Amino acid sequence: MIRVLTDRGVRQLDKGLFVTFEGGEGAGKTTLIDELAKTLRCQGRDVLTTREPGGIPIAEQIRGILLDRNHTAMDPRTEALLYAAARRQHLAERVIPALARGAIVICDRFIDSSLAYQGYARGLGIDEIRAVNAFAIGDHMPALTFWLDISPEVGLARVHAGDGREVNRLDLEGFAFHEAVREGYRQLHESDPGRIVRIDAEQAPESVLNDVLSILNARL
Ligand SMILES: Nc1ncnc2c1ncn2[C@@H]1O[C@H](COP(=O)(O)OP(=O)(O)OP(=O)(O)O)[C@@H](O)[C@H]1O
Ligand SMILES: [Mg+2]
Repeated sequence: MIRVLTDRGVRQLDKGLFVTFEGGEGAGKTTLIDELAKTLRCQGRDVLTTREPGGIPIAEQIRGILLDRNHTAMDPRTEALLYAAARRQHLAERVIPALARGAIVICDRFIDSSLAYQGYARGLGIDEIRAVNAFAIGDHMPALTFWLDISPEVGLARVHAGDGREVNRLDLEGFAFHEAVREGYRQLHESDPGRIVRIDAEQAPESVLNDVLSILNARL
């Protein structure tokens, strides 16, 4: 929680806790978030789970521009700016109001995905992508980020096993790309271990959940 001293006394900014989940394809983010939210709600906590663009119409429309197959002329920096713009809108419309009322907001991927995928693996530069996103996010960096670390072999095998979501464009990238994403996350974790916590995502689902809960409960 952030408190600011103003001429009218102490003002509380965010009463809630902003938590994000990151990691490569098939790391188990979506599965884990579902179980985590159930557990926290059983404890009586106010929990919002979300993911970008989160059904926010403006963010959905920006995403439509990004995914349009006709937009082959899109410059990589334009792409980065549009992702940041969609992120801002989702943050402003969904995340910030929930944090203001005191909820735990759990977001499936956030800024670190852009840093790892576009900044590092695609080679746009982590610092460049961070600068664009810093403007979009302002003070609303996640308080806590769980990096579900998994080898690409294991993660992609889970995705291709077929009981999860559909296989997408990124899944079909070569292993070198997925290894680069993992290395990007590794560097982000090393540069900010206080915020980004590494979780061994190759464990059984119950063990992954227990690891996350023990760290999260200590922060609540
Ligand atoms: N700890 C686990 N052990 C084994 N299988 C798992 C585990 N966690 C999730 N799975 C399975 O792996 C598949 C991928 O999981 P999930 O969709 O949660 O991953 P994800 O990180 O959300 O992937 P993406 O980034 O692609 O959205 C699913 O079929 C899920 O049931
Ligand atoms: Mg998922």
